[in-house]
Amino acid sequence: MATTTSLKPTSNLNNFLRNNYLQPLQTRVENFHEFVQDLSQNNQITYQRTILSESNRMVTIWDNEAQKARKMLMFASNNYLGLSTHPYVKEKTLAAAQKYGIGMGGPPLLNGFSKLMAELEERLAALKHCESAMVFSSGYNANLGLISGITQRRDYVVYDELCHASFYDGLNLSKAKSLSFKHNSLIDLEEKLKKAKNSCLGEIFVATEGVFSMDGDLPPLDQMVPIVKKYGAILVLDDAHSTGVIGKNGTGTAEHFHVEKDIDITVGTFSKSFAVAGGFVAASKEIINYLRYFARSYMFSAALPPMVLAAVLAGLEVMENEPELRKNLRNNIQYAISKLEKFGFASLPQSAVIALKAPTDMNIRKANFTLSQRGVFLNAVEYPAVSISEQRFRISLMAQHTKEDIDKLCTELESIWSDPTLRQ
Ligand SMILES: Cc1ncc(COP(=O)(O)O)c(C=O)c1O
Repeated sequence: MATTTSLKPTSNLNNFLRNNYLQPLQTRVENFHEFVQDLSQNNQITYQRTILSESNRMVTIWDNEAQKARKMLMFASNNYLGLSTHPYVKEKTLAAAQKYGIGMGGPPLLNGFSKLMAELEERLAALKHCESAMVFSSGYNANLGLISGITQRRDYVVYDELCHASFYDGLNLSKAKSLSFKHNSLIDLEEKLKKAKNSCLGEIFVATEGVFSMDGDLPPLDQMVPIVKKYGAILVLDDAHSTGVIGKNGTGTAEHFHVEKDIDITVGTFSKSFAVAGGFVAASKEIINYLRYFARSYMFSAALPPMVLAAVLAGLEVMENEPELRKNLRNNIQYAISKLEKFGFASLPQSAVIALKAPTDMNIRKANFTLSQRGVFLNAVEYPAVSISEQRFRISLMAQHTKEDIDKLCTELESIWSDPTLRQ
């Protein structure tokens, strides 16, 4: 039975944790169950919507309340180029299953290093202007393995405060010292580099992202490069949301800023533009060879199945041969920016991710549930992940969205913004 520490529906995760951290496990999990039930009964949960169809600009979901399937416009997928349903990618994926079977049954270093893996690593190294690359089972594992595997006790990691959770988790496993700098602040970056230089006996790493995943803004990479060089640091770029989207040829943020040769280590994922799963690190051949033995999330995790590798290889071909996909995406981004500006951006949109700042008195969970009921699928970034004043709606655009889709999004947002029942 749940105890009196359970919560009112209007409560939040912070309160739950504060009230429950001393509770024994059974009480804690029961209270959490009740907490989630409360939110659900009060129409404040949009997590775990079950998708019955393929994932594209339009999806069919199972509506639990109505107990029936219904269509929704998808604005929450990082499948930016629509490769999840691209006929050529599907064809190559199915052919790989026929030819190589469905899996490898072990990690790449021991028994899972397939011919497709070797081919893909070569292609990724070329894409990121590096000597070498290695494929991980996810972008999360790539960051985890890289940061924990490459750093030592005497090193310093200087990083943008808005780096992804997987980077933070890598840092938690690392013995290196670390200092965060204010988001995209060149002044604070230099300040922190000075501090690190004064006491560092090992290497200094500087880490940032090609596109920041919550707000869709870019780092001032061209201005960061000379500062990083001045302090002899190693520059790490997580290009998860940029690959396939940013830069003339879609190779990422380094291409956009013409600093491809200045990035020492690039992290990437196959879970965004490539629309499958998996990740990679690209760097010098010595660094990659070292990581194959010291990145534990690589060493102790099974290799990606040939089908996934084939899907990424086919995706790379599509990115190269069909630049119109990127052009459509860019047109959609421009159109969406012009239509959504009135709602207030969380930061200047520069990618396929657009974040809208929610009014501070809006119940964002309820608002997102209402949007969901009206057929618009997007994500709310809510307290305590961010402060109340920073709560936002996160919109992901695809090349396949039409102007009518974006207009519908805009109309539904307008009605949400003007609905007094969604204010508290
Ligand atoms: C910046 C960034 N890095 C890494 C990851 C992890 O990628 P994956 O989904 O492949 O684990 C994500 C995913 O959300 C991300 O946004």
